[in-house]
Amino acid sequence: GPQFPQVVVLFGATGDLAKRKLLPGLYHLATAGFIPQCRVIGVSLDDIDLPAFRQIARGALDQFFARQVTDADWDAFAQTLDYVPLAAGAPALGAAVAAAEASLGTECRRLHYLSVPPSAALPAVRLLGEAGLVERARIVMEKPFGTDLASAVHLNRQLHTVFSEEQIFRIDHFLGKEPAQNILAFRFANGLFEPIWNRNFIDHVQIDVPETLGLGQRSAFYEQTGAYRDMVVTHLFQILAFMAMEPPTALEPQPISEEKNKVFRSMLPIQPADVVRGQYNGYRQEPGVDAESETETFIALKCFIDNWRWAGVPFFLRTGKKMAEGQRIISIAFREPPKSMFPPGSGVGAQGPDHLTFDLADASKMSLSFYGKRPGPGMRLDKLSLQFAMHDTGLIGDVLEAYERLILDAMRGDHTLFNTAEGIERLWQVSTQLLENPPPVRLYPADSWGPKSIHQLIAPHAWRLPF
Ligand code: BG6
Repeated sequence: GPQFPQVVVLFGATGDLAKRKLLPGLYHLATAGFIPQCRVIGVSLDDIDLPAFRQIARGALDQFFARQVTDADWDAFAQTLDYVPLAAGAPALGAAVAAAEASLGTECRRLHYLSVPPSAALPAVRLLGEAGLVERARIVMEKPFGTDLASAVHLNRQLHTVFSEEQIFRIDHFLGKEPAQNILAFRFANGLFEPIWNRNFIDHVQIDVPETLGLGQRSAFYEQTGAYRDMVVTHLFQILAFMAMEPPTALEPQPISEEKNKVFRSMLPIQPADVVRGQYNGYRQEPGVDAESETETFIALKCFIDNWRWAGVPFFLRTGKKMAEGQRIISIAFREPPKSMFPPGSGVGAQGPDHLTFDLADASKMSLSFYGKRPGPGMRLDKLSLQFAMHDTGLIGDVLEAYERLILDAMRGDHTLFNTAEGIERLWQVSTQLLENPPPVRLYPADSWGPKSIHQLIAPHAWRLPF
């Protein structure tokens, strides 16, 4: 755990992310002993008192914490909670932090967690400045960081008038997922695949994250965001960077950021013609959604990393809400052999190219599919596969969730799995043409794989999903 006691100031403490991940995550870290000395001060627009906040927190744990919440653990955790309504202002927040620090009785560190939409980020930063909470502090900024290049540049500038870069942690929880880090292990701890990890052997790459979830109570956030800002410019591009980056000189924040940022710098601007935007039927009727909303709940696109390793290799990305299945895969399609001696009809190539597929499910899974001989007379081929599942290894114990891992890293001051201002600004720059000229949204039925035009987008290849 971190060296010093921690006072967490959680903005957006009654919001969806706080309920789903942050409160359960802090509870887990506290009860598992990672942060034995910690206070959590909730802040939000809701004009509620501490008992009401405790009730919200308890409800969140009951609904979203993976295990049964025991009364003893809850009572201990509830004692560490406090609440300040945003309207109470800087003096009240300062006083609450002072009281929390006094109760811990020794030198503390502060972790300000901004679980708020982009429009609320700067006001929260200013409030922290006014409340005098900058010293001994670190600040975690939720994604999306800004909503376009201009707003991200502005946010970075303003942020730097209050906090130094060392204090800032731009979070992307996909980088906290075990399987995401396993991509780095797989690529750089083995000699097996790295020699063929380039345009000479790889035909194309797919990063596919369909979700079955709808919007729940998040329509206000989502209407301003949409699938591109919520998922692509953030999670999917970060995963893309892990897949595509050159070996860093060390597994340390600066070398890793350098290599990721080189990938972002090499990306060609996303072309609106290479993008399919979709919206599920019925989205416009959801509470809180504009009856003529053009917000996309689905997006598929093709992009390129124009460097020596990847020039000409298309990367196909897709994600959306209310889709047929929930999956998070990265699939690498290898080139076909230069010549085939197998007779027509033997089945070679009939089931697409051979693939290496990473599954970013909670515990890593991987599979390698290839053609092999079907038993029997003659030479008939079939798609076979090698499968790996971390679950079968017995190596999984009490794993930290992505958010828990990253909260701990931020408390320890470790930037390895966080993003830089430069990288994020570059990703918005790459997005500018698309954001300024988005293609129209096409409707798709709920529980489907998206609008029909996704097949044209990827042709002559095919989407790997559904398996
Ligand atoms: C969040 C997005 O960042 O990631 C959500 O805002 C999305 O819209 C979620 O559902 C997916 O995360 P995970 O960890 O459930 O794959």
